[in-house]
Amino acid sequence: MSKVIAIDGPAGAGKSTVARRLAEAMGYTYLDTGSLYRAVTWYLLNANVHLTNGGFSSVPDGMIRDALNPLDIRLRCGRVWVGQEDVTDRIRDMEVSRRVSMVSERRPVREKLLSLQRAAADRNIVVDGRDIGTVVFPNAFLKVYLDADMSIRSDRRLRELSDAGVATDYGEVLENLKMRDERDSKREIAPLSRAPDAIYLDTTSLSVDEVIAVIRKLADDRARSGYAIWKKIFYRTVWTILKALTKVYLFRQISGKSFVNAIQGPAILASNHLSHLDPPLVAVSMNRPIHFLAKRELTGIPIFGHVIAWLSAVGVRRGIMDREAMAHVRSILASGGIILIFPEGTRSRDGQLHDAKAGFGKIVLECGVPVVPVRIIGSDRSFPPGAWFPRPSPVRVIFGEPLYLSGSSSQSDPSESALRDRYERIGCEVMDRIAALSAEK
Ligand code: DC
Repeated sequence: MSKVIAIDGPAGAGKSTVARRLAEAMGYTYLDTGSLYRAVTWYLLNANVHLTNGGFSSVPDGMIRDALNPLDIRLRCGRVWVGQEDVTDRIRDMEVSRRVSMVSERRPVREKLLSLQRAAADRNIVVDGRDIGTVVFPNAFLKVYLDADMSIRSDRRLRELSDAGVATDYGEVLENLKMRDERDSKREIAPLSRAPDAIYLDTTSLSVDEVIAVIRKLADDRARSGYAIWKKIFYRTVWTILKALTKVYLFRQISGKSFVNAIQGPAILASNHLSHLDPPLVAVSMNRPIHFLAKRELTGIPIFGHVIAWLSAVGVRRGIMDREAMAHVRSILASGGIILIFPEGTRSRDGQLHDAKAGFGKIVLECGVPVVPVRIIGSDRSFPPGAWFPRPSPVRVIFGEPLYLSGSSSQSDPSESALRDRYERIGCEVMDRIAALSAEK
């Protein structure tokens, strides 16, 4: 059976570039549905159907249907044809861009293009648009919703247009995107919206290669979803065994569990880090499955890397701002997941708490989800660095009250140093809360 990867999102979020290159890399066919709506708009403009603002909404459906009857649109080798005419470049004109949202909100237009889009799914395809995951292919193999800040989207679209030789300026592009966002998301039929099962990906600070890498990883994971049930059983089995072992062998105690159990949605667990036992210790202290960040040196080890990936480890490169890992964390949180992060970045060699890395503050600030401080005590005595096997020695996991730190990075003060300050302050606040937990009973 052929597979559909559906990529929806507002204009300029990077959908077409990502979808085209993703399709190339995976050997899939690329279907740019926006170009179909643009081709219809270009055709109606040339067919002299009244396309001024108020005018088009009062053109009766029947008249639009009649006008579209003879229309023959084809996508061939990356080019868009209307009848015998190659309109690939002309459909990118600002004149078409200004009118396309108004045209695409009409029922006869959407009906005409729906069957055309569905017919393309006789092979593996990557499709981008606005309603792909919600209406056109609700059973798509993978659904992704790409988004980005408005200013970044305008920059990208302006660059794309000037590369294609279209004369325009930033102001005009920005206005056009705002107008289309508004119209595309508010229209009655098939509005732009995120399917509940679509993975949300903010591409503001990601390169095209990084976005593609994340989607490929999601597609690979999905392709292995035949194993998903085994993965669940595996997680559950390991979890149950470790739960019993850590209780009997390490006399594990937990406090403050009600704080973390009260959270239904996404959250970051921020813990001090003393030993390799810490991720499993926190995992078995929870009622919900969790993900955790693990250094790439571990996730890259053959077999062992796969085992910890099955236990929901996310590989992260240390010493750099690993944007691919950040995107992965964002998509876990956007899907309501919970992730364990060690703000200090590495195990403490002296048992003391150390400063949080700036990357931790960045994740917290950008994701805007509750942060639960976690203090682990005793795991370094039980499993010190260099040891081959844990020894029986009491360990304790203490959960603190969740912190609700500011949701998104400020646009009014985007300076690099001001942001770094905020990341540091967040790191300090969280580490202070972790430190305070040691005093709790
Ligand atoms: O992706 P694009 O900017 O080329 O799309 C042009 C317009 O087409 C967009 O503003 C809304 C419309 N469109 C749509 O309504 N549904 C789709 N699946 C794709 C595009």
